[in-house]
Amino acid sequence: MKDSDRIERVRSTWAHAAADAGRTGRVFYSNLFRVDPTTKPLFVGDLELQSRKLVQTLTFIVDHLEDADTLMPAAIDLAHAHIKYGVTAEQYGSVGTALIETFRQLLGPSFAAEDQKAWIMTYEGLSSEMVKAAYPG
Ligand code: HEM
Repeated sequence: MKDSDRIERVRSTWAHAAADAGRTGRVFYSNLFRVDPTTKPLFVGDLELQSRKLVQTLTFIVDHLEDADTLMPAAIDLAHAHIKYGVTAEQYGSVGTALIETFRQLLGPSFAAEDQKAWIMTYEGLSSEMVKAAYPG
């Protein structure tokens, strides 16, 4: 898949999901806690607030997919901040799975196989850099 196609697919999926940010957040966390129950006890704060921050940050990420010089340092800072929340490298995979599941549920058949592929490529690209930076060795 061409980079431009991948980014276009990620953007249009996100435009749908972000239009109902509250619902996206609720569905995402319920998927995450089902996919990987080890993540649940790490969320000690207000989940509504956390959900808003997640949606805002995903919007920032999606808006900067063509601006790696801005995106990557921000993502790496975020990964470092996550160490103190008790997040492990393995849990990045669970977040990816929960995110894809969320799009499937919210968008239904309009979330095409190619859209899913575009998200997997994008999330894996970003999260592998975050994991490499925060959990060296
Ligand atoms: C690209 C991936 C991720 C993004 C964009 C993201 C985004 C965020 C943001 C914006 C915050 C709030 C930070 C703050 O208030 O300073 C946060 C906090 C947090 N994130 Fe993530 N995160 C990601 C991956 C993960 C993963 C893999 C986990 C594993 C379970 C995780 C668990 C948490 C926890 C436990 C908190 C703190 C919640 C609390 O204080 O109750 N995040 N995340």
